[in-house]
Order: sequence, then C-alpha cells, then structure tokens
Amino acid sequence: MGLLDGTVVVVTGAGRGIGRGEALECAAQGAAVVVGEFDPDAGKAVADEITAAGGRAVAVIGDVADTAVADSLVATAVSEFGALDALVNNAGILRDRTVAKLSDEEWDDVIRVHLRGHFLPTRAAVRYWKEAKRPGHVVHTASTSGLLGNFGQANYGAAKAGIAAFSTIVAMEGARGGITSNAIAPTALTRMTLDLMPEEFRVEREASIARGEFDFFAPENVAPLVAFLCSDASSHISGKVFGVQGDSVEIFQPFTSVAEIRNDGKRWDPEDLPGRIDELFDATGVQAGPENMMERMRYQILAGH
Ligand SMILES: NC(=O)c1ccc[n+]([C@@H]2O[C@H](COP(=O)([O-])OP(=O)(O)OC[C@H]3O[C@@H](n4cnc5c(N)ncnc54)[C@H](O)[C@@H]3O)[C@@H](O)[C@H]2O)c1
Repeated sequence: MGLLDGTVVVVTGAGRGIGRGEALECAAQGAAVVVGEFDPDAGKAVADEITAAGGRAVAVIGDVADTAVADSLVATAVSEFGALDALVNNAGILRDRTVAKLSDEEWDDVIRVHLRGHFLPTRAAVRYWKEAKRPGHVVHTASTSGLLGNFGQANYGAAKAGIAAFSTIVAMEGARGGITSNAIAPTALTRMTLDLMPEEFRVEREASIARGEFDFFAPENVAPLVAFLCSDASSHISGKVFGVQGDSVEIFQPFTSVAEIRNDGKRWDPEDLPGRIDELFDATGVQAGPENMMERMRYQILAGH
C-alpha cells in the first residue's frame, strides 16, 4: 500500500536529478507516472527503470515550454492511464550571469523554461480537472534564489519568485474545485549544482557516502515531500512554499508588511520622506541597503549543514 496507489502523476524534467527522484518515488508509492523530459535518452531511461521495477510509466519527450508538448503530458496521462491526479512542475535550467552581462537570450531562455514551463502544464491540468470535475494536486519548483535572491541569478531568481507567486494564485483559483497548488524550494546536488562545488567537497562527500552516512544533499531526498503533496493526504494544504533538503522540511512565510508610516491623511511630500523613511528600518531591523538573505538560510550546500 502506497500513498499514491491507483493515481496518475506527471513529472516534468524527470530524466535526471530531483525530477528523476520524484518520478521514482511517486511510482514506488503506487502512481503511474508520465515522465516529461527534454532529453530522450534520460526520459526513456527513467520510464524503463520504473517499468523494470514493476511500475507503470511512459515518457513524453519534448520542451515543456512548448504548448503542444505541455498539453500532451496531460493528454498522455489520460489516454495511457485513464486520468490525471497530480502534476509536478520541475523542469529547469540555469544561465548564471550578473545583470550587466546577461544577454537577451539568457534572460528569455530561463524565463521561458521556468515560467512558461510551469504555466503551460498547469493550465492543461487545471482545464482537465475542471472539465472532469475532479480534484487535483500541483507541485511547483521554486528556489531560495527567487525567495531570497542570489548574486548572479537575476533571470533564474526572477523566474523562481514568479513561480512562487504563480503557485499561490493557482491555489486561490483552484480552491473551490479541490485543486491544491504548493511550491517547493529544494536544495540538492545534481548536474545543475554539482559542477559548482570545489573538488575537495566532492571527494569528502564520496567518502562520506562510502562510509554509509546519510547523503544530506542527495536529490532523492526531495521526493518524499513531493509524493506527499501529490497525494490526497495533503488535500488541506495549498498555496504554501516549503523548503526541502536532506531530512529537513521547512515552511516559508510569504512577503509580509511589518511596519508602516502615515502622513496624517495627506499625500506625502517627497521632501518629507528622507526624514521619515528610517522609522521603517528602526522599527523592524530591516536594513536600508542590499542584504544577502541567502546567508540566513538554514542549509547551504557549501556551508554544510
Ligand atoms: N539542485 C538544486 O539545488 C536546486 C535548488 C533550487 C531549485 N532547483 C530546481 O529544481 C529543478 C530540478 O533541478 P535539478 O537540480 O534536478 O536539475 P537537473 O539539470 O539535474 O535536471 C533538470 C532536468 O530537466 C530537464 N529539462 C530542462 N529543460 C527542460 C525543458 N524545457 N523541457 C523538459 N525538460 C527539461 C533536463 O533535461 C534535466 O533532465 C529545477 O527547476 C531547478 O531550478 C534545484
């Protein structure tokens, strides 16, 4: 008996890394899985791995930011397995550069794969659930780079913050029909992040794995929370953003107003603001200049845990 017995789940970018772990875990929990993936070899390999283990899976190869491909993820779930119960939007890419050096293509590619690549499958899934009068679950993949900001990731961070906002709105719109929408901000060592690590870190990690110790940043560690959020056991949870890595599950509080200044019911004179604005910083401890909020993260790959 698994958490997802008899259900059908679509996972995008499921050929590698975090998405692969999510597809395998959903299958292990009893779901039939549609493996959405750009890379044909990687996508088919994960679908084969699931079927070889006795599960049900089919690969849909293509760019998730293409409307026909996104629609076919949902259509394939229905034609191959009879329904769709949950969608995991995971596919993503990096093109890191500071704003001054960022090209038009690097901006557009990242915004397209993440934002359009989350919007299109979600729209297809929501349309299906509304028409079929069925409930459903969507899990989106945000990032601390978007929630907190990260140097050199303006394109990626903007997309990931957008995904968190998108998820919140899908949750509001889906509430009446029993459609939940939640976002995760994972941290894991994958093709996307492993190359950024110093050699000594990689050597030390391999030695730790060889000693049989828990591999805190293994991509498979993200999957249990995602499988849970794909299941009806999470039906009361929606519009939330979870941090997830290792054996840790965190919850993020959304942007919240924490202090206010007023001008006695009159429009502000800009000349009065220099004398008053510091009241907001003094009242809250929020700094006036740019802050490195990533420093406040509980778990960072480089800093260990
Ligand atoms: N690894 C981390 O620490 C981390 C942190 C925060 C967020 N994320 C997010 O998690 C998700 C998975 O990242 P990962 O680390 O597993 O990366 P990864 O590169 O290992 O895997 C991403 C997979 O998505 C596929 N993909 C990329 N673009 C696609 C497209 N347009 N259509 C279909 N498939 C596509 C790739 O081929 C690849 O198989 C991404 O959205 C990423 O931004 C990762």
